[in-house]
Amino acid sequence: MLELDREKLPNHLAIIMDGNGRWAQERMLKRIIGHQKGVETVRSIVEESSLIGIRYLTLFAFSAENWLRPRSEVKSLMALLKKYIAMETPRLMKNNIRFNVIGDLRELPADVGDAVQSAAARTAENTGMVLTLALSYGSRQEILTAVKRLAEDIAAGRISSETVDEKIFTTYLYTYGLPDPDFLIRTSGEMRISNFLLWQLAYAELYFTEVNWPDFGKDEFYKALGSFQARERRYGLTSGQLRNRS
Ligand code: IPE
Ligand code: IPE
Ligand code: MG
Repeated sequence: MLELDREKLPNHLAIIMDGNGRWAQERMLKRIIGHQKGVETVRSIVEESSLIGIRYLTLFAFSAENWLRPRSEVKSLMALLKKYIAMETPRLMKNNIRFNVIGDLRELPADVGDAVQSAAARTAENTGMVLTLALSYGSRQEILTAVKRLAEDIAAGRISSETVDEKIFTTYLYTYGLPDPDFLIRTSGEMRISNFLLWQLAYAELYFTEVNWPDFGKDEFYKALGSFQARERRYGLTSGQLRNRS
């Protein structure tokens, strides 16, 4: 396993957990079996991330567009989510992890919404890693909702349009309070963002692996983190400027 530099870990790691369905189909299994295996990967990556000292982990679990999947798959996914959240809460408590969620929660079935709220409330005082699940999440929808709320505040005179800057705008996003992700991992070989954190990923390092999410083990995780550590993040500057700064 690769040696990691603990000083150079991403502060906020975001993951698009993709390839559960294909993992199952390649084995002549039902797609939901792939989702069940995917939950095991979630468990191990959450634990490992918290152990090595990642501060924020955000997992794309269900997109706004995923509602359009076959009804039976959506139903199974919702049932699995509810079970995962209820089962994991004691482990989150043990590991001092704070549970958080982003997305249009009004769309969730009431029992899943309740499970989410209760896990967030129970873990609210935890001071370790912040685990955020993106559920019923779409980034364009998030940005539009933010713009509408901001427009209402401007119209009502609560804020003046001249003062609106990036910092103020981000307070209207679901992710308010979370720093921007430094590193994005997507599994299963797809090289796209699929409407995930479009604003927040502006300067994230991107990493794509062919491995499907149920097979994304510790070795693969360390390989991804090793890739992050080898990169130079220039934010528009030159390498020379960066060297002079440090
Ligand atoms: C990711 O796996 C999980 C969700 C989107 C809910 P997929 O279900 O997208 O798996 P593939 O991409 O079809 O293999
Ligand atoms: C993105 O995966 C959403 C999640 C991982 C929850 P999808 O499988 O839905 O994305 P597309 O359809 O391949 O872009
Ligand atoms: Mg997919």
